[in-house]
Amino acid sequence: MCGITGYIGREEAVFVLLDSLKKLEYRGYDSAGIAILHEGTVTVRKTKGQIRALEEKLKNERIRGTAGIGHTRWATHGEPSDVNSHPQTGASDRIAVVHNGIIENYLRLKEWLQAREVVFKSETDTEVIAHLIDYYYRQGQGLLKAVQNTLKRLEGSYALAIAAADYPDRIIAARKDNPLVIGLGKDENLVASDIPALLAHTREVIYMEEGELAVLYRDHVELLNSQGDHIVRSPLHVDWDAEAAEKGGYAHFMLKEIHDQAKALSDTLRPRIKAGDITFDEFDFEEFCGNARRIVITACGTAWHAAMVAKYAFEYFARIPVEVDIASEYRYRNPVAQENDLFIVISQSGETADTLAAMRLAKKGGNRVLAITNVVGSTLAREADLVLFTLAGPEIAVASTKAFTTQLMCLYLLAVKLGKLRSRIDDTEYRACIEDLRRIPSQAEKLLSTQDLIQRFASRQFNKHKVFFMGRQFDYAISLESALKLKEISYTHSEAFAAGELKHGPIALVDTHTLVVAIATQTALFDKIVSNIRETSARGASSLVISWEGERLFESVADEVFTIPKTRDCFSPLLSIIPAQLFAYYCSIQRGNNPDKPRNLAKSVTVE
Ligand code: AGP
Repeated sequence: MCGITGYIGREEAVFVLLDSLKKLEYRGYDSAGIAILHEGTVTVRKTKGQIRALEEKLKNERIRGTAGIGHTRWATHGEPSDVNSHPQTGASDRIAVVHNGIIENYLRLKEWLQAREVVFKSETDTEVIAHLIDYYYRQGQGLLKAVQNTLKRLEGSYALAIAAADYPDRIIAARKDNPLVIGLGKDENLVASDIPALLAHTREVIYMEEGELAVLYRDHVELLNSQGDHIVRSPLHVDWDAEAAEKGGYAHFMLKEIHDQAKALSDTLRPRIKAGDITFDEFDFEEFCGNARRIVITACGTAWHAAMVAKYAFEYFARIPVEVDIASEYRYRNPVAQENDLFIVISQSGETADTLAAMRLAKKGGNRVLAITNVVGSTLAREADLVLFTLAGPEIAVASTKAFTTQLMCLYLLAVKLGKLRSRIDDTEYRACIEDLRRIPSQAEKLLSTQDLIQRFASRQFNKHKVFFMGRQFDYAISLESALKLKEISYTHSEAFAAGELKHGPIALVDTHTLVVAIATQTALFDKIVSNIRETSARGASSLVISWEGERLFESVADEVFTIPKTRDCFSPLLSIIPAQLFAYYCSIQRGNNPDKPRNLAKSVTVE
């Protein structure tokens, strides 16, 4: 996720901004840059790579100035490169902008500006903001008005810091759907994406609210609401230490990322729903999917579990055969590629060795490949024919959480759209599905607020010798992912199986040391899962059921029931995984582990 800093005071801004940017490194980034105001000029320096590379670039020059803005970029539009790094500047190169977020209507704005002879330098969505401000400013509007008029035209999300050569005494900041915090210092003021970037200067902060704009001067800060009215807000005193601040106050990145999911789901969904329709700006959906006779999906680990959910989803909505394979299996089994196969690879990092090898094999066999990944500029993103990005922001904890649910969101969008294209669902059903997907982020938010229940349950169950997850269809796929989460970070022996397989073997392992977690969201199969739970209880196992809010059936069958907000059965994986993630997290904590860095595991498996 991009990091923003802004400073105005008495110190050399270059050093303040570089130090603040380093405090935002935990957010993940692929390039960095600064813009410094001094005597009617704005000097921009930026580079692909680490802050170290930026420091290297700056080491032989002295950029004077006590005000400026800085940025660490996590690429979303355009690969990591010097030119795509922020700050982005307007046509006159006198207005510099740093941005965190996604401008959904940037292509339309770009065309509008190009029709007015504006020439673009980068592939970023951010550049339209710089040009729009510049455009309005050159029309004779003051800087503040130019910024306000620009904001009115933006659809999507943003946190912005703006520096203009003609206004060396101020920095402007604005936010919508992305965080910004103002730091109030003595004879200096700052703005940043997060508290750690401010702590070296002040502990007095003001959180900016939705739609607000701030003008920072050296000796005071003006705060305006979205109507442009001045508002007054008392600062808060922050007493977090720097480490807690990096995790947004959460004890671990994993817990933060679990909680990030409501926003990540919304960020991934929103740009792809336009006028009640699913649209992919990234590629021509009809051209890619129109002739598909079969879908082949390959991935590793959690991403493979997303593929398992996708199999059920594509078959359900689009009635198309789907083959799912673990990438390390696919690459060595001499697979049969067929003409009109639609090939999808899924990878959070975009760097997993087996997934890359599987993709290369598919391409060699003549398939066009669509990659679903979280990392712009990754090898997978560069080599695939088409890319759909999950907009989860960087995932730092080794155990994947928000990358998984956003992968699911992309896959559901594809499945529903394909169902419509193949006339397997009618218009009414299509629109109803879109509405249900739109509700998922707020339902996830509601579900996350019940985490205390799960924490208490984990504190009673964390010592179980074995935990088995079972479910049918979509719930089977989520059982696989739940068992992986638990084993990865709590080191508990956990397995998943399709509930119908219970009698074919796994039941031999069930005893009084076993916890059985049944995921039960497929209403048509409730009776069957009830029998499965009874079979395990009869052998002394404790049981937990994860099912729908308002469903009473399981209360008399299981020892404990967690509920999730009701959506249609086929979308349940987007929600049912969340209690399982939290359960794994709290078991890990109870066992004294560090869930962010589990033993023997790496975030990205770049070797076989
Ligand atoms: C998930 O919790 C794991 N750490 C792991 O299974 C991971 O999903 C797998 O290595 C694939 O990674 P990728 O998505 O980056 O390709």
